[in-house]
Amino acid sequence: MSVPPATDQPDFALARAVLHAALDCVITIDDSGTIVDFNPAAEATFGYAASEAIGREMADLIVPEALRAQHREGLRRYLTTGQARVLGQRIQIPAVRADGAERMVELAITRATVPGRNLFVGYLRDITDQLAAEQELVASRTRIVEAADESRRRLERDLHDGAQQQLVGLALTLRLARDRVESDPQTALELLAEATSDLESATAELRDLARGIHPAVLTEGGLRPALRSLVTRSPVTVDLQLDGLPQQRLPAAVEATAYFTVSEGLTNVVRYAEASTATVAVGCSSLPDAGAAPPDPGPQVLTVTVADDGVGGADPAAGSGLRGLSDRVGALGGTLVVTSPPGVGTTLIAELPCGSS
Ligand SMILES: Nc1ncnc2c1ncn2[C@@H]1O[C@H](COP(=O)(O)OP(=O)(O)OP(=O)(O)O)[C@@H](O)[C@H]1O
Ligand SMILES: [Mg+2]
Repeated sequence: MSVPPATDQPDFALARAVLHAALDCVITIDDSGTIVDFNPAAEATFGYAASEAIGREMADLIVPEALRAQHREGLRRYLTTGQARVLGQRIQIPAVRADGAERMVELAITRATVPGRNLFVGYLRDITDQLAAEQELVASRTRIVEAADESRRRLERDLHDGAQQQLVGLALTLRLARDRVESDPQTALELLAEATSDLESATAELRDLARGIHPAVLTEGGLRPALRSLVTRSPVTVDLQLDGLPQQRLPAAVEATAYFTVSEGLTNVVRYAEASTATVAVGCSSLPDAGAAPPDPGPQVLTVTVADDGVGGADPAAGSGLRGLSDRVGALGGTLVVTSPPGVGTTLIAELPCGSS
């Protein structure tokens, strides 16, 4: 296709009008890389008047410094060898505005066939905002997937540490009842009554979880009644020490983690420790602030201790309960320490940061 020479023929006026009306930037350069035309969209995007841009080398005007040599070399290679890398393609590259701001543009360069002249036309569109919106979309999808994964993991842990542990206890009680049916029917009946009540509480807990809520007693009454109910259900005698527990409620995640620490700890005691007694102590304290003067308290920490005088030898690597508990505590920025010398007993200490209250 031949394009009329730049004269005041009617077709030339039409071509200029089309270039002026374009929403995309249209920048024409000659074979020395000098701008010979710069349409109004290019003026608006790059912040130069056409009169300032025309006659300047394009590389110098809008190509980022780091890419200028590459741009000049590409033009030289094409003119000497005919090898084109970007000609006729749509590419995304950075470009620089008059105020120095770097923008991402979509660029297509074509060759304009004008007798006696090597002209190249660049069609550019600023896609910085569009790319940012696409990136935000990808990031928000990732966050949604991560949040869904996270809540699935939390649900898994809640089930494991809550209702599942109660059902383990229930199975033990039923086994005890079975063993006593003939020799001691009265005790067997009592154990069955206990099992029925345990089953009701496990069912209630599952119902709460299904609604996305932690054990109802914890949600409604807080740690004090929730821990009392755990201890009451435990077949092992437990000394519950709550003197250091503040009357006011703690953040829900802290209460839940403290609750599940005691739940997992006591279930392990029942299953493995062969202990005569266990101790559960939960209380808040201020972490000593190294450099602070004495009256200046450090951040508040809830310390949860579950200790037994049983066989010891607990190994977090041997199951998923203690490891999961450690993850749960870690997610709140806290620590879980398990000490379990054989023959001496086991102590779990969870320290949970709980804000300044
Ligand atoms: N209080 C304890 N006394 C003695 N051994 C314990 C005690 N707690 C845990 N253990 C030992 O440590 C192992 C790991 O405990 P953990 O709670 O991590 O897993 P689990 O109880 O075996 O399985 P899960 O909790 O996933 O049902 C147990 O299998 C048990 O051998
Ligand atoms: Mg366990």
